[in-house]
Parts: sequence; C-alpha cells; structure tokens
Amino acid sequence: MDRIPAGWLVLRPFTSADVEWVYDVSQDPALRQFVQVPSPYLMEHARYFVEELAIASEARAEFVVEDAATGERLARVGLGLRGDGTAEVGYWTAPAARGRGVAPAAVRALCRWGFDVRGLELIEWRAEVGNFASRRVAEKAGFVLEGQLRKRLVHRGQRVDAWIGSLVRGEVP
Ligand SMILES: CC(C)(COP(=O)(O)OP(=O)(O)OC[C@H]1O[C@@H](n2cnc3c(N)ncnc32)[C@H](O)[C@@H]1OP(=O)(O)O)[C@@H](O)C(=O)NCCC(=O)NCCS
Repeated sequence: MDRIPAGWLVLRPFTSADVEWVYDVSQDPALRQFVQVPSPYLMEHARYFVEELAIASEARAEFVVEDAATGERLARVGLGLRGDGTAEVGYWTAPAARGRGVAPAAVRALCRWGFDVRGLELIEWRAEVGNFASRRVAEKAGFVLEGQLRKRLVHRGQRVDAWIGSLVRGEVP
C-alpha cells in the first residue's frame, strides 16, 4: 500500500504495531457512539481490525494518519472498496488530535488517491443523523449531502437513521 502525503500529515499503511493504539482510541465514547464497533471493545477486536481488515483485506484501503514531522499517530481513514468503481469512506481522529483539521485534510488526500490511483468513480459517506462533526469533515472534503436514510446504520446495537452523501471523481476541492 502507498504512503500518501497530505501537507503536514502523511497517510501510511497499518502494521501490527498499531493494534494497541487502535484499542486505546476505540475506548473513546464519541467513537463508540458514532462508529460501528463491538462493545466491550477488546484487544482481540483491535487485532482483527488491524491484521485481518486493515492489512490483509483486498476490500479495504486503510491508513494511519501521522504527523509527518514527528510520526505521532493522529487518525485513521479508510475506504471500503466495493469492486464496482465505488467505495465508502470511514474515519476517526484520536481524541487528543481533534479540532486541528486532521480528518478533513486526510479524507481529501485519501479520496484524491482513491480516484487517481485506484480509479474510483464515486465515494460514498454515511453517518448517523446528528453526527455534525463527521458531516462537516465530509463537506470540507467536497462531499454533497444527498439525503437521509431510515434505519440504515447499526450503532450501539440499534438501527439508526443515516445521512448520506457522495463525492464524484473530479470534485475533490
Ligand atoms: C468526526 C471527527 C473524525 C472529526 O475529526 P477532526 O480531525 O477533529 O476534524 P476537525 O478538527 O477538522 O473538525 C471537523 C469539523 O467539525 C466541527 N465540529 C467538531 N465537533 C463538532 C460538533 N459537535 N458539532 C458541529 N461541528 C463540530 C469542527 O469545528 C470542524 O469544522 P470547522 O473546520 O468548520 O471548524 C472526530 O470528531 C471523530 O473521530 N469523531 C468520532 C468518530 C466519528 O464520528 N467518525 C465518523 C463516522 S461517520
């Protein structure tokens, strides 16, 4: 997998050394509220995500977002590749790194890479209704909000309504 430069950030592939970091960040209440993760979130869940999905799965393009100068791990961004020219974007930022524009810059770089290198035609974004921070990230990466879907995500073991948006090749700001 490539390394993707993004200004003061760099997106790099996961390694097994990232398991503990994923475990730690996944304890965060905001992440547990808005991302579909097992609860309780155990080390084996982090290991499965990193080793089976992020590293081994051809259907995912997952990256750790680092401070390019220090190597500090700040966020995770990824694409779920559907194999039909489309993908779904996912992301979270570690609590201590929030509020610094990390996710918008990383998502922009990821999407540009998805279109230019992986030949995607469309990237979809879905978030639970009310996840305004995620919506702002998507908007800043150029996504167009298309509407609201009923009961289309499962969070905290419950079906919840979702916002949906898309980004088409050529639209990344
Ligand atoms: C969503 C998330 C990835 C944002 O990451 P980040 O690196 O902090 O991104 P930013 O610092 O650029 O903040 C994003 C924007 O949301 C805004 N924002 C943050 N919290 C907000 C809130 N509660 N309500 C409204 N806007 C909010 C910020 O002001 C910023 O917009 P601005 O640039 O116009 O000021 C981060 O909050 C997170 O990890 N949340 C939990 C996991 C999650 O929800 N993932 C997305 C699932 S679809």
